[in-house]
Amino acid sequence: MKKTTIRSTGMFVPPNVVTNHDLEKIMDTSDEWIRQRTGITQRYWINEECGASDLGAEAAKMALADAGWKPEDVDFIIFATLSPDIMFPGSGCLMAAKLGLDKTPVLDIRQQCTGFLYGLATADAYIKSGLASRVLLVGGEVHSSGLDKSTRGRDVTVIFGDGAAAVCLEGIETDKKVGLLASALHADGNHADSLMTELPASRLLQRLPSGVATDDPRYYPVMDGPAIFKKAVRMLPKVTNEALKKADISLDEIDLVVPHQANKRINQAFGQFMKLDESKIFHNIEKYGNTTAASIPLALHEAIAQERVGRPGDTVLFVALGAGLTWGASIFRFF
Ligand code: ACO
Repeated sequence: MKKTTIRSTGMFVPPNVVTNHDLEKIMDTSDEWIRQRTGITQRYWINEECGASDLGAEAAKMALADAGWKPEDVDFIIFATLSPDIMFPGSGCLMAAKLGLDKTPVLDIRQQCTGFLYGLATADAYIKSGLASRVLLVGGEVHSSGLDKSTRGRDVTVIFGDGAAAVCLEGIETDKKVGLLASALHADGNHADSLMTELPASRLLQRLPSGVATDDPRYYPVMDGPAIFKKAVRMLPKVTNEALKKADISLDEIDLVVPHQANKRINQAFGQFMKLDESKIFHNIEKYGNTTAASIPLALHEAIAQERVGRPGDTVLFVALGAGLTWGASIFRFF
């Protein structure tokens, strides 16, 4: 049976760096608070008009060049984002056009921080069923244009960064135990209001309600940070054990954990709970903040560039929890 392998990766962030000290100038926060509570020292925010599809196209070009593929060589595109360029059509269609494509099928997914994991599982299903053999999976976010940059929104705003990352996935016929070994995915919409942006809302008679000021808090993301933190620390080990069982491997066989970069403390607590050496957990949240659907592929790209992982046989655990709530884990072995 075909196995889903990663041929290449790519990433792109906008050029404008926003440090914690820059944020101190616009809201009541401090570099010390942000670093201690999250591990973040800077993030990238767009400073000229630019959508998730623009960032995604740049990341995709890098991944395609590294794979030696032309855009037309891809037979399926998956684009994961919670911050689409416009309400519709999806950013995947917009990105494909920017890559010069006019007929390649595209699927947009809205799975927030687990977008990459859901995208990987979807690509794997397309590859194993024979519907596709070369899949471009992209995660891209422009959070900064939708954040409340006053003190009222500081708990959320300091965390999020803009960016995109891409992977080229290819189905390879082999009997070896390689490629995507297992995925465990979950969702529980009962906790949707613990992390959401409420407006604009199609469920209302007027999507943009009249008489509501544009700085109404419902236009900005709200998050019950402590509740999400506790949920993550409880669910990430559980879903990891589920994925390990599905893959029929032990935790000792994992060479590197590439977790969603939501908060460094969440990933440290996960490592302690799983009794993992700190060197086995990859972090780059300090440079990028939480880039949501882009975060895991962006971390994977850097982990490969730093030669922390990527040799044949190297085994990686991807794990994430985020808005939805959605959570999941995937285990991937390099070919
Ligand atoms: N600067 C300074 N002070 C702040 C800031 C800030 N940016 N934000 C909040 N505070 C204050 C609060 O007002 C509070 O003050 P008080 O004690 O006077 O009331 C105090 O700091 C503590 O606030 P907490 O919310 O309890 O702080 P906590 O230690 O929980 O850290 C954080 C907050 C960083 C948001 C944390 O809860 C977290 O990371 N949660 C999980 C986030 C996450 O994983 N999200 C999911 C992924 S994102 C996605 O899916 C899209």
